[in-house]
Amino acid sequence: MKRITFASMIMALSFSLPEVGHSEETPAGQELFQKHGCTNCHGADGVHPTSRYVPILRGKPAGYIFENASAIFSGQHKSEKTHFMHDQFCIGDAKEEGCYPAPNQADLRLIADWLGGDKALSEKHKTEQGLYVTSVDAYKRLQDLGDQALLIDVRTRAEVAFLGMPTMAAANIPYMTPDFETWDEAKQNFKMVPNSEFTIRVQGLLSKRGLTKDTPIFLICRSGSRSAKAANLLGLAGFKQVYTVTDGFEGGQIKEGPRKGERVVNGWKNAGLPWTYQLDKDVMYFDL
Ligand code: HEC
Repeated sequence: MKRITFASMIMALSFSLPEVGHSEETPAGQELFQKHGCTNCHGADGVHPTSRYVPILRGKPAGYIFENASAIFSGQHKSEKTHFMHDQFCIGDAKEEGCYPAPNQADLRLIADWLGGDKALSEKHKTEQGLYVTSVDAYKRLQDLGDQALLIDVRTRAEVAFLGMPTMAAANIPYMTPDFETWDEAKQNFKMVPNSEFTIRVQGLLSKRGLTKDTPIFLICRSGSRSAKAANLLGLAGFKQVYTVTDGFEGGQIKEGPRKGERVVNGWKNAGLPWTYQLDKDVMYFDL
């Protein structure tokens, strides 16, 4: 059953975007979820399991799904129900004959990101690649990945200068810049203009560090909308793993109460993650 899914996927791929590895419509995690046969029990969408013993996965936090899946596939977590998974996959010492290879950590990551991703997200926070992380998850992942990943702050230079930035950001590369001579009536603010050099500057940063378009890139803005747009742009330019930090640096605005409108809900700063007003010139953005 799984072989057929896999073969049809390969065929579909050879018609669409062979060099990208996954089609633009389907996030990588979703394809891996099918390829590994997770759909056999958890349902095609992770929402409609095929048996009542199987939990719904979609919408649970990505970090939770990753950790639980890792525990199951490494054989660490066993319950009266995990044998269902053990029957299909090669887990633990007593491997079933003809078992399927358990997915590796990288595949589980992408699956978890897809499953955990977009349920609670509004349209403006969603991206084509569907790779979402909260600031807390981003921090953990960046620590694990070390110099094999980049955190890029895509806010304006003014925001960075006056509000500070995450200490681990590799660069500030603004996705948009304000035109202080033009007023945007609809937004009741200065007009924001796309930075036409955005993609090329990201590429430049990767090259400088000997990294490639496969390198995981984490984009952070104020509260997750600009970083989503920037992620889509990089996706179109062939960057393969572009994550958007869904809650951003300052986070979303509180909806009611005396502090209504203030950004005290979530985000990098509110989560107590390391950030600084002490800017590093090498990380700043200069017009060349
Ligand atoms: C043969 C059926 C089956 C297949 C195939 C299967 N699962 Fe499961 N999965 C289960 C069952 C049953 C449980 C509940 C285990 C328990 O409660 O101990 C479970 C639990 C989980 C959990 C823990 C959920 C939670 O809320 O704690 C995760 C995560 C998970 N599966 C991910 C996956 C992924 C990813 C794949 C594909 C690589 C997969 N599963 C394939 C049956 C399956």
